[in-house]
Amino acid sequence: MTSPRQLTCPHCDGSGFLLDEATGEASPCECRPRRIALARTRSLSHHIPRRFLDVGFDRNPVKEMDPTIVRAVERYCRTIDERLDRGEGLWFQGPRGTGKTTLAMLVSQHALKAQRAVAIYTVPQLLSEIRKTYDDDSRHDYLELTRRLAGVDLLHLEDMAVARTNDWVLEQLYTIINDRYQDERSVIFTADVENPDDLATHVGERTYSRLIQMCGDPLPLRGEDRRIAVRAG
Ligand SMILES: Nc1ncnc2c1ncn2[C@@H]1O[C@H](COP(=O)(O)OP(=O)(O)OP(=O)(O)O)[C@@H](O)[C@H]1O
Ligand SMILES: [Mg+2]
Ligand SMILES: [Zn+2]
Repeated sequence: MTSPRQLTCPHCDGSGFLLDEATGEASPCECRPRRIALARTRSLSHHIPRRFLDVGFDRNPVKEMDPTIVRAVERYCRTIDERLDRGEGLWFQGPRGTGKTTLAMLVSQHALKAQRAVAIYTVPQLLSEIRKTYDDDSRHDYLELTRRLAGVDLLHLEDMAVARTNDWVLEQLYTIINDRYQDERSVIFTADVENPDDLATHVGERTYSRLIQMCGDPLPLRGEDRRIAVRAG
């Protein structure tokens, strides 16, 4: 798996600086901003979970998913650098066990391969990380976490619709999403909602509106729960 420390660069041997042999002066290499962004993800969750490590367009289950949706994901992955530079996202909508996470992990996998800074969280997990910084009563840790999250090129959030909502949750989601909205940084997420606008009741209207602008119309996944279908069939 790509680790922040393995960012290769043809110009600077990986140090992030170029040495001018004549003057002996060092200047920052063009890879340095990316190097810093990757280093910041070190304390964030940025690994593809084991179950999804070898998902691929050329393999099942992706090969047997709705081709229209798979093509849209493929297009995004093929142009991942431009998409992330423009802050474009994606969202996967549909009921349990229909392949939302599988496709979202494929996107994260491509972003990691392109050596972009990625953070991957389920929403409940992320909220609990934030809550910990509250418990520790450390304003500094809270700001540090939100700053790191805001700095990644791609924030991948799983299960946007499962969090039990209260004012605190809505406020946290708003802060995270609005930071990205303002900086034009990409978000991809999955949500088990029947209709796209049902998401607003889970995340709040203001957050929903920003997500829609960044991620567009959802990619709808349909059908039965494949986890159960596999066992039965
Ligand atoms: N279209 C499909 N055909 C066959 N198997 C599939 C399909 N979609 C998903 N699967 C399989 O079903 C399981 C669940 O997929 P995944 O975790 O991506 O679903 P999900 O939509 O994220 O579900 P949940 O809403 O519960 O998180 C995985 O083992 C996956 O390989
Ligand atoms: Mg899922
Ligand atoms: Zn370099």
